[in-house]
Amino acid sequence: MSTVLILGATSDIGMALAKKFASQKFDVQLAARRPELLEPLQSDISIRYGITSTLHAFDALKYGEHASFFNSLSPCPDVTVSVFGILDEEDLAFDDWFVAERMINTNYSGAVSILNQVARSYISRQRGTIIGISSVAGDRGRASKLIYASSKAGFTAYLAGLRNKCFKENVHVMTVQPGFVYTKMTENLSLPRPITSTPEEVAGIIYKAYQKKKNVVYVKWFWRYIMLIIKNIPEFQFKKMKL
Ligand SMILES: NC(=O)c1ccc[n+]([C@@H]2O[C@H](COP(=O)([O-])OP(=O)(O)OC[C@H]3O[C@@H](n4cnc5c(N)ncnc54)[C@H](OP(=O)(O)O)[C@@H]3O)[C@@H](O)[C@H]2O)c1
Repeated sequence: MSTVLILGATSDIGMALAKKFASQKFDVQLAARRPELLEPLQSDISIRYGITSTLHAFDALKYGEHASFFNSLSPCPDVTVSVFGILDEEDLAFDDWFVAERMINTNYSGAVSILNQVARSYISRQRGTIIGISSVAGDRGRASKLIYASSKAGFTAYLAGLRNKCFKENVHVMTVQPGFVYTKMTENLSLPRPITSTPEEVAGIIYKAYQKKKNVVYVKWFWRYIMLIIKNIPEFQFKKMKL
């Protein structure tokens, strides 16, 4: 039986992923800042799918603990999904370095710190899959997502580099680029329904892409083309737009 580790398992997408992998008979390791919040998910997975799951304390910002956290997992997970992330109010982040720094340190530095650890372990075993949940926001920087988009751009570039580094080591790295998703992160935003996904849809698409060993998956598929258009707007025009 295979095991999946979900980093940031209290997230709505993380919980949907845990259920999806459990439904496919994966054992599940759920890691979050407050693992006690995951007890209902743990019993749900056990009742619904008869799957064992374990709870682990993990904080993306506690870089110094990442090695001991990952090395203490038994068994070593076959698949690791990095799903944690924060989207703070951008005007606040522009004014207050603490807010900007926390976003960068979580979305970029925290992810790099733990995934370097995971990748080194997978390289030494010559197997494993790493799935990183980035964002379409990282495809082009813009005013309304100044810090969040740049932290995700860095994460997307890191995942591409890690995929290149790990390829010859039989370790697969998949980048996930969600567009809008109805979750706690976006509950205060009014999202356009036709292009917004549910966490369950996102989890289903990620699982299928994992099975097919995709390199980069947009959720949903049309976001690839939306972002292609956005990326191709000439800079002299783009800088004048309110985006
Ligand atoms: N929703 C969207 O429209 C959308 C679009 C594109 C990409 N994404 C990405 O999808 C991922 C999941 O987000 P979501 O939409 O499911 O939002 P969410 O429900 O708000 O989940 C975010 C999660 O990140 C966790 N987290 C924050 N800081 C952490 C830290 N220092 N250490 C460990 N965990 C931490 C939170 O844990 P706590 O429970 O401890 O607060 C929470 O579970 C994120 O990376 C997000 O950037 C979301």
